Amino acid sequence: MSKVKTTYVCQECGIDSAKWLGKCPSCGAWNTMVEEKFTKPTGNEKYNYVKTNNKPASLSQIEPDKYKRLDTCINEFNRILGGGIIPGSLILLGGEPGIGKSTLALQTALKAKQLKTLYVSGEESLEQLKIRAQRINIDNDACLFLNETSLEAILNHISHEQPQFVIIDSVQTLFSETIDSVPGSVSQIRESAGRLLRMAKEKHIAVLLIGHITKDGTIAGPKVLEHIVDTVMQFEGDNRHSYRILRSNKNRFGSTSEIGIFEMNASGLHEVQNPSELLIPHSAEELSGVSIACTIDGIRPFLIEVQALVSTAAYGTPQRSSTGFDTRRLNMLLAVLEKRVGFHLAAKDIFINLAGGIKIIDPGIDLAIISAILSSNVDMPISRATCFTGEVGLTGEIRPVDRIDQRIAEAEKLGFKHMVIPKGSKLQSAKSYNIKITQASKLDKAFKEVFA
Ligand code: TYD
Ligand code: MG
Repeated sequence: MSKVKTTYVCQECGIDSAKWLGKCPSCGAWNTMVEEKFTKPTGNEKYNYVKTNNKPASLSQIEPDKYKRLDTCINEFNRILGGGIIPGSLILLGGEPGIGKSTLALQTALKAKQLKTLYVSGEESLEQLKIRAQRINIDNDACLFLNETSLEAILNHISHEQPQFVIIDSVQTLFSETIDSVPGSVSQIRESAGRLLRMAKEKHIAVLLIGHITKDGTIAGPKVLEHIVDTVMQFEGDNRHSYRILRSNKNRFGSTSEIGIFEMNASGLHEVQNPSELLIPHSAEELSGVSIACTIDGIRPFLIEVQALVSTAAYGTPQRSSTGFDTRRLNMLLAVLEKRVGFHLAAKDIFINLAGGIKIIDPGIDLAIISAILSSNVDMPISRATCFTGEVGLTGEIRPVDRIDQRIAEAEKLGFKHMVIPKGSKLQSAKSYNIKITQASKLDKAFKEVFA
């Protein structure tokens, strides 16, 4: 008979303890220890996938062809993975509810017609999956669907069907009969992921796990989940906008600096080849408070419209609010403007908005943010043919940014005539650009150029 064991598991970091504790001794979180029961295996269980035939091998004995990447038939997805999915790898796809994780997974399953795929959904019934597939409008009879949450049943189906690619939507719905706690708990997630990992490595099946994320944006469940998988991907965006960004936070088989941009519309997700064209409106009218930033995400440069509104505060405490840009950084930039450039904005409401619901963390956007604020403050438009890139330091200096050549090339490609960049930028081919480049070291110099 198997033995039932009780432990207390921290829902934040996954550490277990024999007795309940108010504060997790490992991560220091309060009230996160939850009682979980699991059955200790006695060794008599029939896990035919546990017995392995793995043998030690030298590098020369390993055939690289065995690990030929599988094509997902979605270019943006392939790129983030580093060229396709490696057989036997585990990919974790996280994201907020409704962002499009299931849609992306289903679209991959249906598009990659050359792969034998098994799509396991614990969240949607087969009929609901069919309705979604009809929306996406791709037919693929090689792809099999299964509505199941029992880990043992899923592993049996995988052994029987022998697919090349398995999608699990989502890892939080799985439950193993050997563990006596609810689906979604740390021990269930750990057990499910661990056994899927063993199966994947042994049978060279690629597995995509969809994971929910918690309020603070991390993948729900223990950190060990992120440790055991080969790739952790995050699907993000603003639900009210149609743009979605796919990025990888960890990738054992590729770079983590690539991003993929998608647009969600009535027929599923569509790859966006040139994000700049969508993020800059094509109107010719010049309005105050608008500037164009040349920014970079990962290694991908693009241009984005920054809007600012500066108005006299109606109430005692002025409001500072920004969408897509860190409000604390905005406050810092305003302090720099006040102290170093002499603009008095303390009694003004300031609102910042970036186009398309996109969040930018590249500090190279600072100069465009400041320009938009000043443009709105003095009510003078900035030419639509001008764009900005540069990080602003606490002394009001404009500091060089990375990949400046790529940024200039992108601005030039989109037909910009003038670009303000930091002084001291290391340009590789300064003379060959068709765009006028102003190198500015201080904010006042940059503004003289723009508002002259
Ligand atoms: P979904 O993939 O279910 O999100 P997740 O699995 O991350 O929770 O995406 C659901 C959203 O996407 C939903 O709000 C409807 C929208 N959607 C479209 O706009 N077009 C489509 O073709 C599909 C399938 C979904
Ligand atoms: Mg879903």
